[in-house]
Amino acid sequence: MLGHQSRAIIPHGHHNMISAHLLLKGEMHVRQYDLLDKTSGHLLIRKTIDEAQGPGSLSSISPDRDNVHWLVALDKPAYTFDVIITGLNTQSDTDFDIYNIDPEGGEHQIDGSLLAPRLSVKDALAKYD
Ligand SMILES: [Fe+2]
Repeated sequence: MLGHQSRAIIPHGHHNMISAHLLLKGEMHVRQYDLLDKTSGHLLIRKTIDEAQGPGSLSSISPDRDNVHWLVALDKPAYTFDVIITGLNTQSDTDFDIYNIDPEGGEHQIDGSLLAPRLSVKDALAKYD
């Protein structure tokens, strides 16, 4: 369990983990996406949630749906209470992994999905935090 205080939870997808985020204080712009495909350079994603959420709201990610999330504080400070479980598949080569992406630099696909480039942590924080 973690607490989180920042301007944003930068846009990222996950591997082999689930998490849940209870908004305790403030309002956040919450965007989530299904992860459709992953390459070494991109994630192919489809937006599932794009809304402002207030205290008491709960969002979650899993391998099956809403795997990618991006939360931006509209009020500062905003606080979330996070529960994270890793190592869902014990046969996986990693306990978990996180893929930072650049949805604003992505290419919209004809089927409505978005091909978003992957970013280093440094570049992702510089652009989105
Ligand atoms: Fe996350």
